[in-house]
Amino acid sequence: MAEERFLVTGALGCIGAWVVRNLVRDGYATAVLDVGGNPHRLKLIMSEDELARVQFITGDITDLATVEAAVKDSGATRLIHLAALQVPFCRADPALGAKVNVVGTVHMFEAAKRAGLKQLVYASSIAVFGHSEDYGEGPLAHGARLSPNTHYGVYKQANEGTAQIYWQDDGLASIGLRPYTVYGAARDQGMTSGPTKAMLAAAAGQPYHIAFGGTGVFQYTDDTAKTFVRAALAPITGAEVYNVGGASLHMREIVAAIEAEAPAAAGKVTFDDKPLPFPEAVDDAAITAALGALPKTPLAQGVRETVAIFRAALADGRVAVQ
Ligand SMILES: NC(=O)c1ccc[n+]([C@@H]2O[C@H](COP(=O)([O-])OP(=O)(O)OC[C@H]3O[C@@H](n4cnc5c(N)ncnc54)[C@H](O)[C@@H]3O)[C@@H](O)[C@H]2O)c1
Repeated sequence: MAEERFLVTGALGCIGAWVVRNLVRDGYATAVLDVGGNPHRLKLIMSEDELARVQFITGDITDLATVEAAVKDSGATRLIHLAALQVPFCRADPALGAKVNVVGTVHMFEAAKRAGLKQLVYASSIAVFGHSEDYGEGPLAHGARLSPNTHYGVYKQANEGTAQIYWQDDGLASIGLRPYTVYGAARDQGMTSGPTKAMLAAAAGQPYHIAFGGTGVFQYTDDTAKTFVRAALAPITGAEVYNVGGASLHMREIVAAIEAEAPAAAGKVTFDDKPLPFPEAVDDAAITAALGALPKTPLAQGVRETVAIFRAALADGRVAVQ
């Protein structure tokens, strides 16, 4: 168990920070490969002692030699690949988005293969799917048709194809996970970061307007992180990709949960009732069958923990309202 060594790419980001926190608390040797140099998201949710146990490697996944060196230097036996540019960044610079999200992901598979690793886990996204009305009634089925409507979604679809070919040609197994709207401390960028930014503003007693609404699936950061860790440790073959489950909620329920936790914010959190271009609910029976029951923190608890982390971090200056 604990003799496994993890390399997590993009782990200065939101989900990565929570993955690292889980790994360190579970006693795993953990290395981070990220192009960024500031561990501010990890500092929100980990102690200095915990951070001191992490090996930080600064490097860009668009460079294969960098990725290979990181795999070697970390002695990684398990890879969790999260580094990516999110929807707004890919929209602003599609070529850079393709370089990081598509070529960078090819580099992760290639480096894993060259290091003789047998499997890896990577982040795909709900953004490989289209609008709710494209899929008929009921939760989105496992294996539903991909129909991305952003550059980002197209790049994630390419990642899933890359994974298939590395399994077919090289026997390198993988699991791709498709999170939906992840919320929780450290979620400060990306198209669906509004609800968490609202939690931060509410913790500071300030107003916030969320730029989307409608009904979608919400996943607490810690649950998402635990799902990645579970997938990374699972004995697998093939190149399966799973939709990650969670509660299907309307934005008004998110706002109500924020107001319940931060009553001073009552009436100050607003939203555009414009749904995301994704299905409203997902069927997660396939991932549950593959990995077992996965954590699903109730919304009220997730918001309570998030607001508490933000209050503590606002008090000592580790975070500021954006
Ligand atoms: N947060 C969500 O709701 C959500 C939903 C679906 C999928 N995902 C996917 O999960 C993964 C993690 O998401 P997140 O919310 O933690 O993202 P994030 O934006 O918070 O973090 C991404 C990290 O990747 C790093 N990175 C970017 N370019 C890099 C490069 N060239 N080399 C090395 N590192 C680089 C960044 O510095 C950052 O620390 C991403 O692949 C994302 O597309 C996230």
